[in-house]
Amino acid sequence: MKTLGQFSVEHFLEHYWQQKPVVLRQVFPRFEDLLTPEELAGMSLESDVESRLIQYQSENSQWHLNTGPLSESIYSSLPENHWTLLVQTIDEWLPEAHELLEHFNFIPNWRRDDLMVSYATPGGGVGPHVDQYDVFLVQGLGSRRWKVGSPNQKVTPSFPHPQLKQIADFDPIIDETLERGDVLYIPPNTPHDGVAVEACMTYSVGFRAPSHHMIYEQLLDDILSEEEFSSPRFKDVSPNRAFKTQALPSQLMDWLRASLASISDEALIQAFGKLVTEPRYENEPFEDSLGRAFKNIGNRPFTLQIDPQARVTYTECNQQFFLFINGESVLFSTRYQPILKKLCEYEQIHGKDLNNCLQDIEFVNEIANLIDKGWIIFIQM
Ligand code: SIN
Ligand code: CO
Repeated sequence: MKTLGQFSVEHFLEHYWQQKPVVLRQVFPRFEDLLTPEELAGMSLESDVESRLIQYQSENSQWHLNTGPLSESIYSSLPENHWTLLVQTIDEWLPEAHELLEHFNFIPNWRRDDLMVSYATPGGGVGPHVDQYDVFLVQGLGSRRWKVGSPNQKVTPSFPHPQLKQIADFDPIIDETLERGDVLYIPPNTPHDGVAVEACMTYSVGFRAPSHHMIYEQLLDDILSEEEFSSPRFKDVSPNRAFKTQALPSQLMDWLRASLASISDEALIQAFGKLVTEPRYENEPFEDSLGRAFKNIGNRPFTLQIDPQARVTYTECNQQFFLFINGESVLFSTRYQPILKKLCEYEQIHGKDLNNCLQDIEFVNEIANLIDKGWIIFIQM
């Protein structure tokens, strides 16, 4: 039975996940840092890595923020205390991060966002705040004192710097110091504040929770990518009556509502699927010879694997099978559902499982396309 410190995973999911914060002691008894503070600082100098340096000056109570890429000179002018460096999406750059993320595989991969790593000097932290997503904070090097309030409690926002959204002090229900290997779970909209007791590293495993707003945005993107000429235009109803006034016609609301109701289930599910599988960074496209080799495989043995970095989920909607991978949706006939489900759940299938599918040129082309993108790995035996 898989455990999370003092709890079984089942107990945690039933009593804490998205309900209340909890300190999980010694989830990783021999936890080793994935990188050193110097390596983390090195990453913050790279232009394609998202990083932030947050400093607090106690003498004038001022907060400072520098966003990456940072310059080497900034590090030579930093004080001993009260600053923290945060680097986003470490899992994109560090394969070792996957082992840590795998520990949380009782939550589906498509819910996961990224791994953020921070280094904080004594007294350093980002200040009290709330996040809109679930997070597991794994303690590496050093120790950190965490104060956590109750979820959804009323908070007072404050902006000590235009780009730093904090909150005023809150009443904590947890006030504990985390040591190496301990984990703090925090549900969405829960005030928290972590201050380094001694120089420390924190690994944040965050999860995705799309808002309505984000879904509308994606939906709109999808709709606007269609040609406008196919979009129904407003037509006058009873012009003899309607044209006698400058007011908007009384039937207009029905027409507007009908335009929203015309958004199909498929369009909605596709917007959601694309959104939650959207990668943080675009991967380099692969060369296209592997897709061609797959098309010509004949009877020779092979396996297909989902790229471990790929974000994947799937669903069935109105008799179609939707595979969502890295922000794209691929439609298949439901007759391929068992095989594609197996590929997504087990991340691997053997060529012999595909025997009956290889005659369907459309199916083969879709898979070859995903192989060319590097999202499905094709291994010839
Ligand atoms: C951190 O400073 O590593 C965690 C930041 C947070 O509380 O979200
Ligand atoms: Co936070």
